Amino acid sequence: MLLVSSSLALATLLGSLPTHVQSATVSSTVAQTFLGVGGSGAWWPHDLFNFPDSVRQNLSSLLFSQSGLGLSSYRYNLGGGGVQVSNPVRAPQTPYVSAGVYNFSADPQGTFFLQQASNFGVPGITMFINSAPAPLTSNKASCAGQFVNGSGPAFAQYMVDVASHWRSVGINISYISPMNEPDNSFGPIPCGQEGMLVQPNQRAEVVSSLWNELNSRGLATAIGILADETSSTSVAPTEYGAWLPEVVNMVAHIVHHAYDFPSDANYLAFVNAAHAASGGKSTWMSEICCSLGTPSGTGRGYTQGFDPTINNALMWAGLVFQSFVIGGEAHYDFWTLVSNGLGCDPTRSATCPTTANSQGWNDGMIYYDPNYATNGNHALYVVKHFWAYKHFGNFVKPGTQRHPVSGSDASEFTLVVSNSTTYSVIAMNPNSTASTLSLTFPETVCGTTAFRTSATEDFSTIAAAKASGSSWSLPLNAVSLSSYIFKRGAC
Ligand SMILES: *[C@@H]1O[C@H](CO)[C@@H](O)[C@H](O)[C@H]1NC(C)=O
Ligand SMILES: *[C@@H]1O[C@H](CO)[C@@H](O)[C@H](O)[C@H]1NC(C)=O
Ligand SMILES: *[C@@H]1O[C@H](CO)[C@@H](O)[C@H](O)[C@H]1NC(C)=O
Ligand SMILES: *[C@@H]1O[C@H](CO)[C@@H](O)[C@H](O)[C@H]1NC(C)=O
Ligand SMILES: *[C@@H]1O[C@H](CO)[C@@H](O)[C@H](O)[C@H]1NC(C)=O
Ligand SMILES: *[C@@H]1O[C@H](CO)[C@@H](O)[C@H](O)[C@H]1NC(C)=O
Repeated sequence: MLLVSSSLALATLLGSLPTHVQSATVSSTVAQTFLGVGGSGAWWPHDLFNFPDSVRQNLSSLLFSQSGLGLSSYRYNLGGGGVQVSNPVRAPQTPYVSAGVYNFSADPQGTFFLQQASNFGVPGITMFINSAPAPLTSNKASCAGQFVNGSGPAFAQYMVDVASHWRSVGINISYISPMNEPDNSFGPIPCGQEGMLVQPNQRAEVVSSLWNELNSRGLATAIGILADETSSTSVAPTEYGAWLPEVVNMVAHIVHHAYDFPSDANYLAFVNAAHAASGGKSTWMSEICCSLGTPSGTGRGYTQGFDPTINNALMWAGLVFQSFVIGGEAHYDFWTLVSNGLGCDPTRSATCPTTANSQGWNDGMIYYDPNYATNGNHALYVVKHFWAYKHFGNFVKPGTQRHPVSGSDASEFTLVVSNSTTYSVIAMNPNSTASTLSLTFPETVCGTTAFRTSATEDFSTIAAAKASGSSWSLPLNAVSLSSYIFKRGAC
């Protein structure tokens, strides 16, 4: 009895402590207009294609429907044939047979999920390439070699033939990224994945050949060129001078990875450098994974380790906020949507998919058993990253616009987007104490619904924001990510 009543008294006391209130104001003017939120179809299609069709359909729905992540971008990996790549999962077949001759039945795994993305109506489909077909590279392999000067037109014909084929059957490939991480050949042989070094002074040939081929076939406005997907934000700007000025009008968006996990200041410096080098082209974040660290963002860096908990999910949501709020970027893609890097055996331990370990990798939102082929385990394991990314995938739709948030308490972890009918506020509290965000809007709005992801909640519906005078109160629980939805107009 004593125990019960004293814990009740403690709860009452805690409940009566004033929650820290932070005030901020939503701007009436908008910053960037969003283009997409997505991820890559590499290299999991090789395995997931083998799963029962009911699981493949479920996976597609989890990725592409609004009841799942609601992704608006999908990156299809056009395989190079995997010549000299030792890991079969990372060696997708290529349709290339010889110049102008194709086998479009090749890579049934990758093309299956490409078709699924299209069937679910994903609006932005990118075709990205790690290596030209082996016969075109310096070492006649799909890795450890280099782009050959003068091979641009043949490489371009291949890429446009393949994209045209898929478009002719109704799959709207709308971007081609011809060189994914051109700064790395991924050698030596035997390689762990495909790759092709494209020296900075060779990149203009790749882009201009592709543009000329698209243009000669009337596709230059239908298919945009993304370049150059350099691995790190510190290296990319040092190389722009060697290729970008020559082809700047042929590039749709400057696309980069961020494996150097830049600080906010360095992220902004990168974006500014890219704008300066390109006369103000927009930049895209197109690949990132594999970091540990805390929800507030300390300890980020490329490393092995699996942490499926809310801590890593919020660390990683912080990267999305960094791109959108600090960098002002319009598009975000995660590397790889689905992974087998659990680092533990889910058939031996029920807590394997939900407990951190040092053997796995933080490179997925949905995981599967690496031993599925021998043990028949076709379960899909959804981690907290899935529920965190769902906030962005569901509400940061192409065409929505960001409203900057100002005030002394404004946080980079508050993202406000609007469309013609709705404001969506995605706000993160990385701290171990709850707080309340008091938000003032530039027009009359009405809180309608809200969703929260935390240690115990997976995008759970919670109470809508409540009006408090001329502002709105948004409770932010400890270590959580919330979306508060408002309709434009009075309640
Ligand atoms: C095309 O690729 C598929 C899948 O690998 C293969 O089964 C088929 O034999 C290939 N066709 C030709 C003509 O090479
Ligand atoms: C592909 O694009 C064309 C032209 O913009 C459009 O008519 C068609 O509906 C699109 N198809 C799909 C599957 O999105
Ligand atoms: C390839 O072409 C570029 C651009 O003309 C040139 O700078 C570079 O030296 C050439 N590389 C080789 C290996 O010939
Ligand atoms: C789809 O997979 C998820 C994650 O494993 C599971 O919770 C859900 O029940 C599955 N849905 C169907 C229809 O199989
Ligand atoms: C605006 O956004 C809301 C919330 O995401 C969505 O339900 C609605 O369909 C969107 N309206 C338009 C016109 O896109
Ligand atoms: C989290 O704590 C930091 C440091 O005290 C503070 O600046 C920030 O406003 C807090 N965020 C929230 C949402 O409570």
